[in-house]
This record gives sequence, C-alpha cells and structure tokens, in this order.
Amino acid sequence: MNIILLGAPGAGKGTQASKIADKYKLLHISTGDIFRANIKGGTEIGKLAKSYIDAGKLVPDEVTCKIVEDRLTWDDAGNGYMLDGFPRNIYQAEQLDKFAKVDLCLNIDVDEKLLMDRICGRRVCACGESYHVSTLNGATTCAKCGGELYQRADDNPETVKSRLDTYNTQTAPLIDYYKKQGKLATVTSGEGSPDEVFAQIIKILG
Ligand code: AP5
Ligand code: MG
Repeated sequence: MNIILLGAPGAGKGTQASKIADKYKLLHISTGDIFRANIKGGTEIGKLAKSYIDAGKLVPDEVTCKIVEDRLTWDDAGNGYMLDGFPRNIYQAEQLDKFAKVDLCLNIDVDEKLLMDRICGRRVCACGESYHVSTLNGATTCAKCGGELYQRADDNPETVKSRLDTYNTQTAPLIDYYKKQGKLATVTSGEGSPDEVFAQIIKILG
C-alpha cells in the first residue's frame, strides 16, 4: 500500500509516519528529511534547498520530483511506502501520478492556531523522531536511539508564518485533488494526542 500523508506544517505527519512505519512496516519517505540530510552533507541539492527552506518556500518542483522518482526505484520501496511532505502542490501530484500508484491520501486535519506552538516547541533527532518540549521533561536525547535532540533551523516564528502561507496557497488544494480521485481519508482527530490520532489512522487503514 502506498500512502500520502497530507497536512499543514506541524500537523503531525512525521510523528504518525513513525508509528505507521513500526506497525505496518511501510517505508517512510520524507522530502523534508531528504533535504535536511543534503544540507548537512553539503551537497549541491542541499545548497540549493537551504535558501528555500529557510524562507519557508517550496524547493523547485523539478528538483523535488526527480528526488522522489529516483527514491521510489530503490528496492526497499517495493513493499509499500508513505510519502511525507510530497506532493506539495498540484503539479507535484500530477507528476507523482505519472511515476507511482497512490492508494490513499491521509489528511491530518489540525486547527492552524495550534501549529505555531507545536512547531516552535519541537525538538528533533537525526534518526527522524520528533518531540515537543512540553513532554520531554528536560530530556535532551532521543528516547528511541539516544541521539542528541536539536531544533530545526526553519522552526522559528517568522519562517513558520511563511510555511503556513505556502501550505494554504499551494498544498491545501491537494485535499480536493485526492477527494476527486476517491482516495482521500480525513483524520479528524488531528488535535487529539498522538496516540488518539494513531488510533483513528489504524481504523482507516484496517
Ligand atoms: P517538512 O520537513 O516536510 O516540514 P513541514 O511540512 O513544514 O512539516 P513539519 O515537519 O514541520 O510537521 P509535521 O507534520 O511532520 O509534524 P511533526 O510530526 O514533526 O518540509 C520542510 C521544508 O522542506 C519545506 O518548508 C520546504 O521548503 C521543503 N520541502 C519539503 N518537501 C517539499 C516538496 N515536496 N516540495 C518542495 N519543497 C519541499 O509534529 C510537530 C510537533 O508537534 C512536534 O513537536 C510533535 O511532537 C508535536 N505533535 C505531533 N503530533 C501531536 C499531537 N497529536 N498532539 C500534540 N503534539 C503533537
Ligand atoms: Mg515532518
């Protein structure tokens, strides 16, 4: 099964992807994580992506689509995957339809008022896990792998405003795109706890 995880910045895509990957053994592919790994590695893609990510804008479609198309040819994508953060506009969705088969789009619905706090309080680990300061009880390392937690460079109020604007203008139209294809499932419990959200996702996935 190939799933798209849709939702605004901070909606919980990464948090739920980790849970879905554990239970359903689906590969988690996050374009944001791929770009951050490239930035860390100092690659040409990383250098290009950084300016867009720092500004809360989308990295150009040609670059992003090619990365995903290539990634889906790896052997480990053969048993099903979750795309987290891709597609992010109609053009990317149309390209995806040309090189992959999408079974389901899970849209995690969360009121925008909650997102700023969630994102600015987020701490992440290089292994992909994310936490919120309110539940860390002062811990500075990852409960899953022991890695050092840090704050993402784009998790500051100014960039978050721009990311939310980008989401509303470019990404939200995908809700209708997948509804028309009969592939949309809305996760209405997005404002509940991560476990409550996951419980609804399990019901949807069966
Ligand atoms: P990306 O990394 O995809 O970031 P994003 O879409 O802005 O989403 P986030 O990762 O911020 O949020 P999330 O939904 O994963 O939430 P999380 O689970 O961490 O993209 C970053 C940038 O890369 C983009 O701005 C763009 O520049 C570029 N990019 C990426 N893909 C691209 C593409 N396809 N095309 C072009 N450019 C692209 O949770 C957030 C916080 O909330 C955490 O602290 C978490 O602990 C907490 N939390 C989660 N769930 C709950 C809950 N249920 N209750 C309470 N707290 C919760
Ligand atoms: Mg994420």
